[in-house]
Parts: sequence; structure tokens; C-alpha cells
Amino acid sequence: MKIDVFTLFPEWFEWFSSQRHVSNALAAGSRIDCLNFRDHTPLSGGQVDDTPFGGGAGMVLRVDVVDSALRARYGIDPVELRGRRRVIALAPGGRILDDGLVDELTAEPALTLLCGRYEGFDERIVEHFASDTLSVGRYVLSGGELAAMVVCDAVLRKLPGALGHEASAVEESFSAALGGDPEYPHYTRPAEYRGWRVPEVLLSGHHQRISDWRRERSRERGIRRDGPPSAA
Ligand SMILES: C[S@@+](CC[C@H](N)C(=O)[O-])C[C@H]1O[C@@H](n2cnc3c(N)ncnc32)[C@H](O)[C@@H]1O
Repeated sequence: MKIDVFTLFPEWFEWFSSQRHVSNALAAGSRIDCLNFRDHTPLSGGQVDDTPFGGGAGMVLRVDVVDSALRARYGIDPVELRGRRRVIALAPGGRILDDGLVDELTAEPALTLLCGRYEGFDERIVEHFASDTLSVGRYVLSGGELAAMVVCDAVLRKLPGALGHEASAVEESFSAALGGDPEYPHYTRPAEYRGWRVPEVLLSGHHQRISDWRRERSRERGIRRDGPPSAA
């Protein structure tokens, strides 16, 4: 998986890329390349944004700046680019990231993530250069960098070699193995603490009963998450 992140703050990703599961994925052949919009701005003084037409607070990332940064990286008109790879504009109002979308992205050979800042993108960037808009939740972050890290983390940990235990990514919340439900509860030693006992079945050594118990707890959590019809 090759991920290009376009940002005004590439240094944010230095710490992220050095974390164990990310560095494992990078050692196994994945790449995260961070590119600074500012490095290719056609404007003087490193300008990348401007005031919004129609007035209002804040600054808007300019379409000519993003055009120039994408062109410098890929050598083609960015309008053509989105037909060749996923170019994802991170935006609070975009398609919500969930496990299904993560699977979809993990199947791609390459991704381009565009991080907005300030008031966000000139809408022509989204309309003409992006193949998708993606949101990590219905709240507003100060910039797209943390959202891009969420995407990179969720995608890279699904790739072989990223996690210490491959099984960890197979049977976990929202996976097909759990029918899309959240994961069941885990317990470890001590078996009793302040009178709180671990469920007996987990100490039984009976694999089928443990498996059935876990699946049932997982299902219950799925029902709680979706809520009973009367609570909707
Ligand atoms: C301060 S936000 C802009 C918010 C925008 N004015 C609005 O009200 O929707 C700046 C940038 O952060 C990123 N961002 C903020 N919240 C996000 C979220 N929940 N998911 C994905 N990206 C987000 C986007 O790239 C956005 O362009």
C-alpha cells in the first residue's frame, strides 16, 4: 500500500510513522509519503490559502495550489488522476469511515489523502480532483492530519505484517468473523479482583463453549449499539 498525504504539516507524521505497527507495515513494503502543499505553490511567499469569496471568517485552501502540488507529484492533470487512484479529500461532512470503507481502501494499491486546514478546501478541489470525501466523525478537527492518520492506521493494521498477532485483525470488532458486531469482552489475571470474578466459562478450557459465549456477548453488544427498535 502506497499512501501519499498532502498536508501543510508533514512533520506531524514523523512520530506516527515511527510507531511499531506503522513501522512494521512500512518495513513490509508499504509507504507513507508526506508532501507539503507549500512546496509547489505557484504563489509568492509560500501562499497556499486565501480569504473566502462572499466573506466570512478564516482562510480557504486554494485550488491552484492543490493543482500544482498534485501535478508535481504525479505528472498529470489532477482531473485525470482520480480515475487512476483514490484521491480522498478529508472533510467533516464526507463519507463516514467505517470498517467496510477501511476494507475497501485496504484493497487499493495506492491512496492519496488531502488534508485541509483553516476553513477547508476551495470546493473546486473536491469537485474536480477528489474521487471521495471522507470523514472520521461528525465533529470538526483543526486539520485533516489526525484524520489522515486515522485512515492510515486503520488501513495499515489490516495488512499482513503490521500486527504482532495476525489473528488480532481477523476476529475483532466489526469483522466478518463476528458478523459485523463489536468484539466480545476480554479478561486477564487475576481471575478475581475485589470480588469481581471472570466469567467461569473462560476458565473452563472448553473451546466450543468459550467460542459460543464470546459470539453471544458480541451479538448482544451489536444489538445494544444499534438499539432496540422502540428506543430509535
Ligand atoms: C477546521 S476544519 C474545516 C471545517 C469546515 N469549515 C466545516 O465547517 O466543515 C479544517 C480541515 O480539517 C479536516 N477535518 C476536520 N474535521 C474532520 C473530520 N471530522 N473528518 C475528516 N477531516 C476533518 C478537513 O480536511 C478540513 O478541511
